[in-house]
Amino acid sequence: MRTTLDDSKDELIAKAAEQASDRRGSGGPPGCTAEQFLRSYYRHVAPEDIVDRSEVDLYGAAMSQYRTAAHRPQGTANIRVFTPSVSEHGWSANGHTVVEVVTDDMPFLVDSVTMELNEENRAVHMVVHPQLLVRRDITGDLKEIHTSEGQDGIARDMPHDVFRESWMHIEIDRETDPEDLEEIEQALAKVLRDVREAVEDWERMNSQARQVIDDLEKNPPPLDEQEIAVVRVEGKLYAFSNVCTHNQDYLTNGYIFDRQVVCGSHEATYDLETGAVLYGPALDSLSMFKVREQGGEVQLSWPVENGEGFVASVDPDDEEHRFRAQFVI
Ligand code: FES
Repeated sequence: MRTTLDDSKDELIAKAAEQASDRRGSGGPPGCTAEQFLRSYYRHVAPEDIVDRSEVDLYGAAMSQYRTAAHRPQGTANIRVFTPSVSEHGWSANGHTVVEVVTDDMPFLVDSVTMELNEENRAVHMVVHPQLLVRRDITGDLKEIHTSEGQDGIARDMPHDVFRESWMHIEIDRETDPEDLEEIEQALAKVLRDVREAVEDWERMNSQARQVIDDLEKNPPPLDEQEIAVVRVEGKLYAFSNVCTHNQDYLTNGYIFDRQVVCGSHEATYDLETGAVLYGPALDSLSMFKVREQGGEVQLSWPVENGEGFVASVDPDDEEHRFRAQFVI
């Protein structure tokens, strides 16, 4: 829901854009008007963070960052730390020092940069963090800024050589000592290198993990062997785990009696229909499996990808298989 603060932000940006027409030049970065650029640049900034600023300061901050972004060779980060003043730069940031960063868009950037600033005891007062779609030439010169993302911020139908960059304008406690400013810049350069390495490594690891998953899906390792007994009683087939749950003896060493499976060792007795224990000493039921006869084959149901399927076969009329371990999967 729109508020009066949203309206104030809108008006302020429109006024800031008028600054461009008061100056010489194209009125905006290549590919867009000053107003389009300013709206993209401040899109995610809360109105209350900027409505008390002057249009001159808003315009000055955005265009300053544009100049910082003007040339960026692939794989590098542009960092500038300075304290703008009206007398020197034509705009100010409420007296704060400004950190400008332009780099490839990647995860963890804002958190990493603000954490480093906090570690250096530099209080952060404001963060402007647009992610802009840009086109650069092979040397890194900025050729175009695309501002045609939808309201949802999703870019559609972009040329293949357009990439998303992360631009950051972070305001911190005022610092004027050139050595300190240089120190901040170097510390941030190291952090951004670390983030890039971590993200590249993370993507490699992700891709390796995906490869392992694909391999496992295509060539699953053999399942633990499990003996299944398949029996035919009065014409009906039954399949159950061939191992007694009492002491792991083979049930095929026992016998079938009145639709019950009786273990040959200590006579634990199971219901042939359900696998439930009828008489101890066993406590746990038998695992039962679906079984069917098709095309002269006996097939056993087994978990397969996306559910269950009938996969194995055995001839139950074979003397050797009638009530011996029918087959092993
Ligand atoms: S092993 Fe089957 S009853 Fe003991």
